[in-house]
Amino acid sequence: MMITLCRIRLAQRPLCAFGLRRCGSALAPGRPTTTNLLGKEYPTDDKTNITPAIAEKLGRKLYLQPSHPLGILRELIESHFNNFTAHSGFSPIVTPAKNFDDLGFPADHPGRALSDSYYINNESMLRTHTSAHEVEVFARGDRRWLLTSDVYRRDEIDSTHYPVFHQMEGARVFRSTPEGMTELEQDNARLSEHLAQSNIVIEDVPHSSPTNPIPSIYSNHDAERMVLNLKLSLNSLMLALFGGRAGSAEEPLRVRWIEAYFPFTSPSFEVEVFFHGKWIEILGCGLVQQRTLQLANIPHDVSWAFGLGLERIAMILFAIPDIRLFWSTDSRFLDQFTPGKISTFKSYSKYPPCHKDVSFWLPSEGLHDNDVFDLVRDVVGDLAEDVKMIDGFTHPKTQRTSRCYRINYRSMDKSLSNDEANALHTDVITQLRDRFGVEIR
Ligand code: PHE
Repeated sequence: MMITLCRIRLAQRPLCAFGLRRCGSALAPGRPTTTNLLGKEYPTDDKTNITPAIAEKLGRKLYLQPSHPLGILRELIESHFNNFTAHSGFSPIVTPAKNFDDLGFPADHPGRALSDSYYINNESMLRTHTSAHEVEVFARGDRRWLLTSDVYRRDEIDSTHYPVFHQMEGARVFRSTPEGMTELEQDNARLSEHLAQSNIVIEDVPHSSPTNPIPSIYSNHDAERMVLNLKLSLNSLMLALFGGRAGSAEEPLRVRWIEAYFPFTSPSFEVEVFFHGKWIEILGCGLVQQRTLQLANIPHDVSWAFGLGLERIAMILFAIPDIRLFWSTDSRFLDQFTPGKISTFKSYSKYPPCHKDVSFWLPSEGLHDNDVFDLVRDVVGDLAEDVKMIDGFTHPKTQRTSRCYRINYRSMDKSLSNDEANALHTDVITQLRDRFGVEIR
């Protein structure tokens, strides 16, 4: 079914879904005022910006397929943390309160913008990270848990960015009692011993610092031991995932810890792994802020949490060169993988690229890059390999702004003829003009 999108002329008003045409902020008559997602009707409003290309992805659950690289990786991590409860299947539709407010995101955080996140309406959005479920899982009383799901962010188009990707969240709760701290000490001793025997080199940072402080719920001593537990637990996960694959047998795995900032953890860190000559960011983590623990009704406990991106790791481990491949239904992709096994993907022939440029004058209200990217996804789907803004200038006299985007059309499954690429490009140009009111140059 072909669905026309609305014409939006304001940068802060991205594409809206499902044939809605907007006049100012009100919805014009005659278009659907609701949208069906995962079998449920949702009213649309002036915040609606989810597109059909995204809506279509909601029920796919790639991470639950046992012979899909994302499913294989999820199971590998779950078997590493084998005494953690593994959750999945949570709906991607959440309230902005769950995704942002409960986690202490400030009201003006850029992640909340319509240009960065997908909204169904004022009350609901697609989660942008698995941390959106922290409060509810802690509230269940789970003390060691993992949660895997699809997450959604408006983003650029290239071989490592896709507006839907997958994250895994993990957390471990301790009681801040002498018994709880004894359990922590014992676990730290066990993990330290395991790591001492492994071929791993860790570039560390202090457990806390003035710029990465310990929240007041923790005594300094307890917090230091908690951060040590977090570091040991994640270093051992890195070893399970990358050890032996980082280089030759004699070459140790190199892991680097970096001070970071997240509104819902402190101290916070990022972890990077040295792989094929580069440092690659793998995850974010930290000690859970009191707000989360209080909302979850466990104010007397302490916890650490981490969140990692599955695609990034799977692309490295399985040597998958393009993030679009995860969505492929081509048997030449899917048949290469076996449950429980990391194997090297063998590219079936790469078809020739076809670059086409489009230049236009922006409407006076401007246009966000992400609106252009979502439009391309909607019109040509995964046939766009990457889209780049290659030129932009403002005319000194008229003050009008021109932009030029270069789109690379390339199918992963077949060779596109120049005529086919031209037809796709013509559709993109027509839609840019009709939906955004740009003037093609
Ligand atoms: N949710 C964070 C992100 O998506 C990662 C994170 C999870 C950081 C848990 C700290 C603790 O970037």
